[in-house]
Amino acid sequence: MDSNSTAKSLVVYFSMPETTEPENMSREEELSTVVIDGEVLGNTQYVAYIIAENTGADIFRIEPVTPYPLDHSELENIAQKEQSGNFRPEIAGTVEDIDQYDAIFFGFPNWYYDMPMIMYSFLDQYDLTGKTVLPFVTSGGSGFSDAIGTIKDMEPDADVVTDGLSISRNVVQDSEPDIIEWLTEKGFIQ
Ligand SMILES: Cc1cc2nc3c(=O)[nH]c(=O)nc-3n(C[C@H](O)[C@H](O)[C@H](O)COP(=O)(O)O)c2cc1C
Repeated sequence: MDSNSTAKSLVVYFSMPETTEPENMSREEELSTVVIDGEVLGNTQYVAYIIAENTGADIFRIEPVTPYPLDHSELENIAQKEQSGNFRPEIAGTVEDIDQYDAIFFGFPNWYYDMPMIMYSFLDQYDLTGKTVLPFVTSGGSGFSDAIGTIKDMEPDADVVTDGLSISRNVVQDSEPDIIEWLTEKGFIQ
């Protein structure tokens, strides 16, 4: 077992819950959210919180300067355009002193068999040399697609773990035991 339990960690994630209203959701809205005590969280956001809660990691949510639309088909159009144009959407805010972190949990939803382009923006912007990078993904079934290889290519001097955590959107709400098991395997929980 690794011993990462004393590492200083940061959870970096992007998540796009398709509504803020806990009631009367459409199918697409339901599929992209978890409701906890009346609060709507995105799927990846929920996993990010469970990781932070169980490891004491700090948390940074990647948010675009220009917010994405909540409407599903508008969101799909924009995501497709960003991907086909190889865009780098600008990130609002910055991570304070990324050098203080030994480990970066790096989470995103699968968008069209890849990371959302804003994750590329993050990897372009931050040098993760020497850090352990632990990818996690939520998806409708595609898992990581080739994203772990892409992260490695973009951060060649980071130690990117190849067995990242992949959670299906159908089971996010019940995924805490799996998340804890993965964190334990990776040495973040003893
Ligand atoms: C624009 C877009 C593209 C998507 N493409 C895929 C895909 O290629 N494969 C897949 O399994 N799921 C895909 N999904 C489903 C999301 O990965 C899934 O709903 C995810 O859990 C959403 O996480 P979030 O609520 O944190 O944003 C896509 C969703 C959106 C909005």
